[in-house]
Amino acid sequence: MITAGAAIYLDKLSLDCLEKFLVYRQNPEVCKYQGYDPFTKQEAIDFINKQFPIPVGSRGKWTQIGIYSKTTNELIGDCVSNFQQSEPKNVELGISINPNFQKQGLAKDAIQTLSNYLTNNFDVHKFIARIDARNESCIHLFQKLGYEQEGKLKEDFFDKEDNSWVDLLMFGKIL
Ligand SMILES: CC(C)(COP(=O)(O)OP(=O)(O)OC[C@H]1O[C@@H](n2cnc3c(N)ncnc32)[C@H](O)[C@@H]1OP(=O)(O)O)[C@@H](O)C(=O)NCCC(=O)NCCS
Repeated sequence: MITAGAAIYLDKLSLDCLEKFLVYRQNPEVCKYQGYDPFTKQEAIDFINKQFPIPVGSRGKWTQIGIYSKTTNELIGDCVSNFQQSEPKNVELGISINPNFQKQGLAKDAIQTLSNYLTNNFDVHKFIARIDARNESCIHLFQKLGYEQEGKLKEDFFDKEDNSWVDLLMFGKIL
């Protein structure tokens, strides 16, 4: 185990959790506002294998960590951190939660737990979240955690499914 929160703990992703990982990573609703399409089984295996050797805190690399329920020990989602290549004291965070476990405060618990772990073990100046302007749940999550909206990249990318340009919101929390 890496670290624990109130109702979840964070640990490495492993192929033992492949089925639970696919439950949400294959769900179009979970992928909708994120930079990935629903995973195939082989893509999930490759992703977990590729992630496994990357240590948390690696500069310029996305490091994925599993979120596990303390009650059942099952994988319920994953969170990610990226110590920015240009300024490694600034760390971008992201998160995906299985819809069966959403709206229960577990995402908040996971981001708080990850942030505590990172500030306790690394020299962090600021946390960053880049959020699709349509992603209300994610905006609320980071607002509840004390992040401020610092800017908006207008029509930052084109969503082919929606046939529309999408704004990207920049959120940050300076420690
Ligand atoms: C974004 C995501 C992780 C949020 O998870 P969640 O389960 O809603 O989060 P929590 O239950 O911890 O909720 C956090 C807070 O936001 C509030 N909230 C969540 N969604 C809300 C909404 N649509 N409107 C108003 N408040 C909302 C909750 O009530 C809670 O506040 P509280 O502590 O005062 O009760 C989840 O929706 C998800 O996995 N989405 C798909 C992946 C994704 O888009 N990730 C974002 C990329 S960074």
